[in-house]
Amino acid sequence: MAASFPVRFLRFIGRLARGDVKKTWDNCVYRVSEYYYERRFGVRTEGGQTLPELGITNGECGHYSPVPYRFLQKVFASLEVREGQDVFLDYGCGKGRALIMAARLPFREVIGVDVSPRMCVAAQENIGRAATRLRCTKVRIYPGDAADFAMPDEVSVIYFYNPFFGSILAAVLDRIEKSLRRRSRQITLIYFNDYEFARQVRDRGWVRKLREYPFRGYHSCGVYQCEL
Ligand SMILES: C[S@@+](CC[C@H](N)C(=O)[O-])C[C@H]1O[C@@H](n2cnc3c(N)ncnc32)[C@H](O)[C@@H]1O
Repeated sequence: MAASFPVRFLRFIGRLARGDVKKTWDNCVYRVSEYYYERRFGVRTEGGQTLPELGITNGECGHYSPVPYRFLQKVFASLEVREGQDVFLDYGCGKGRALIMAARLPFREVIGVDVSPRMCVAAQENIGRAATRLRCTKVRIYPGDAADFAMPDEVSVIYFYNPFFGSILAAVLDRIEKSLRRRSRQITLIYFNDYEFARQVRDRGWVRKLREYPFRGYHSCGVYQCEL
């Protein structure tokens, strides 16, 4: 059960009294920005969902939790999107938070894939609610395992937030490499919490890290360039 307002207020004062000002401030900024964006788009993407709640049994799949809006805002703001040309793909799109943040930019198309049908329905509903605030009007969601998804060769920006690991991530990397062989181009790849990703791409010469956002140790986000 959520704590009552007086209890939360006393905890807040307690944290300030302990000198935990930085952490308390970060937490306030986090809560305010989450509230702001959810209200602004009229969507519900907050909260986490475990694999059993999603009906997923494969242990290489990741559970649902969204990246804080303000982190997405910061990383996506650094993208130089070519209007009407670039195509964005979120592997493991969950309830569509990153799709919405991407579709505010002038992408030609925004694509989401998720193995959980429940997540796909939620994402579709959220996209519908946010539609009037989006610049990109072509947002498509595909239910299914990312390992089986035939990535379109037009995709030029790929986003991941810890969606899956091990053999699924390896299969997806193989698919990206094949797509680059079919159609030579540069792909910008964004990976939140890129620890396993960095290990898996160590021997793949076509992936090069451009920069990293540490986000105060909460999430690290790597931005990569992929080119053959
Ligand atoms: C950490 S959430 C990321 C949500 C979203 N990308 C965001 O940033 O808000 C990971 C998502 O990946 C999905 N997922 C897990 N395994 C998958 C797989 N094999 N193929 C596609 N999606 C998968 C989960 O259902 C979950 O919604």
